[in-house]
Amino acid sequence: MNQVIDTMVKRRTIRKFKADQISDEELNAILEAGLHAPNAGGGQSSIIVVSQNAELNERLGKLSRNAENITGARMGRVSSEQPSIIDDESIKSAFYGAPTVLTIFAKPGYNLTGDCFAAAENIVVAAWSLGIGAYIVGRCAKTFSTEEGAKIQEMWGLDGEFEARVHVVLGYPDGKEPSYKPRKDGRVIFSK
Ligand SMILES: Cc1cc2nc3c(=O)[nH]c(=O)nc-3n(C[C@H](O)[C@H](O)[C@H](O)COP(=O)(O)O)c2cc1C
Repeated sequence: MNQVIDTMVKRRTIRKFKADQISDEELNAILEAGLHAPNAGGGQSSIIVVSQNAELNERLGKLSRNAENITGARMGRVSSEQPSIIDDESIKSAFYGAPTVLTIFAKPGYNLTGDCFAAAENIVVAAWSLGIGAYIVGRCAKTFSTEEGAKIQEMWGLDGEFEARVHVVLGYPDGKEPSYKPRKDGRVIFSK
């Protein structure tokens, strides 16, 4: 296995973060990976907003937490080692106190959602390769369709045509690395 594949296989979602901020050098390297993700039609449509404002991240994290009715009954348990908001209803912010929150937007056109998620995946893998914890939050469009979310979008200078699709949350991991989750069988079908 080469190093890139090894990083992809060993990457874990991190939800426990140290309070200290990641360095600008690390952040810029991670953003570079996001900007170089595959993009539909070569359009490079995605825009990444980086928020390192603790108060804003807390507000946004609460909005994200409440934007959708998430219950364990619907989704099952996500992680006993690093509980998600689905596992523990007492967690009030969907960002778990992480110091850096990225929001990825694009305008409707050719494959807006695909572009945003391709960037997000590059970002989480790049982060892991640098020892930085990350995870993806897909429940993003609903967050920015609230009145408060729309105001935050406007504050960032993105007109209403831009649609948010995904957050990526970043910070130095705190505590033990989550253990390996075995892959389910039968998820690959060969047709030769
Ligand atoms: C589309 C998408 C949405 C996700 N949304 C959330 C989320 O809202 N909150 C969260 O804590 N993790 C979220 N995750 C992370 C998953 O819970 C995590 O990837 C999954 O449990 C597998 O764990 P692993 O990434 O360590 O392999 C999301 C992942 C994806 C791909």
